[in-house]
Amino acid sequence: MFYTDQGAGTPVVWIHGFPLSSRVFQRQLEIPGVRHVMPDLPGFGRSAHDPGIATVDDYARRVRTLVDELDLQRVVFAGLSMGGYVCFALARIAAERMEGLILIDTRETADTPEARKDRFATIEKVSRQGGSVVADSMLPKMLTRSAPPELVDDVRTIMTSCSREGVMAALRAMADRPDSADLLRRIQVPTLIAVGDEDPITPKADAERMAGLLPQSTLVTIPRAAHLSNLERPREFNEAARNFLNRLRAGDQRLHGSDQSG
Ligand code: MLT
Repeated sequence: MFYTDQGAGTPVVWIHGFPLSSRVFQRQLEIPGVRHVMPDLPGFGRSAHDPGIATVDDYARRVRTLVDELDLQRVVFAGLSMGGYVCFALARIAAERMEGLILIDTRETADTPEARKDRFATIEKVSRQGGSVVADSMLPKMLTRSAPPELVDDVRTIMTSCSREGVMAALRAMADRPDSADLLRRIQVPTLIAVGDEDPITPKADAERMAGLLPQSTLVTIPRAAHLSNLERPREFNEAARNFLNRLRAGDQRLHGSDQSG
């Protein structure tokens, strides 16, 4: 699995969403005091498709192997959307490695029966027409209408460079992911939840519900941002992440509650 490893400080493993790559975290490299580990999940970005990927847990196992190889004892896992689903799997299979969690524009629920049906219909389409079908349908929901055209082009390029097999495998894995509400109630590490206030895919209500389930969470709303809130509003997102990581380092256990910004 391809990854980049930059900076020094608290290790944060940034796990991207669908159908994206670690490039969506390019602006998070500006957060100081962090060792930024950024993998491209199999089939995305610079990582080849891996036929062994069938479930979200399989992605999580690849990430845990990377953390082991880098000899990192405890890390903060940060997941954007599908990356959040991978973080939930990591909380199940690698809880001892988890120092903290950053959940960005994601949700803990499983797919509804309709959403699953749509996933399988999309797999059919992708197998016939390629991954750009997904880029066409999802791009308008990734960023707000006021996003600069260069950013929209950049996201389109990221989305269209994913492998067809990788996209199909991820759709299957997401369709079969479990509900993680009970798991969230048991997560004992401090968690930052960030959500774009104009996210049409995982709206603010999803973030608020997760905040109600997690014992130690801070919810931050990123203004004027859609699904890729960390990429569209890096200044606001990075500020929230930096504050969270500072408090984590200081061992501040009083991370409970709502901390609305913007
Ligand atoms: C993502 O951004 O990773 C996807 O929207 C997640 C999903 O389709 O459930």
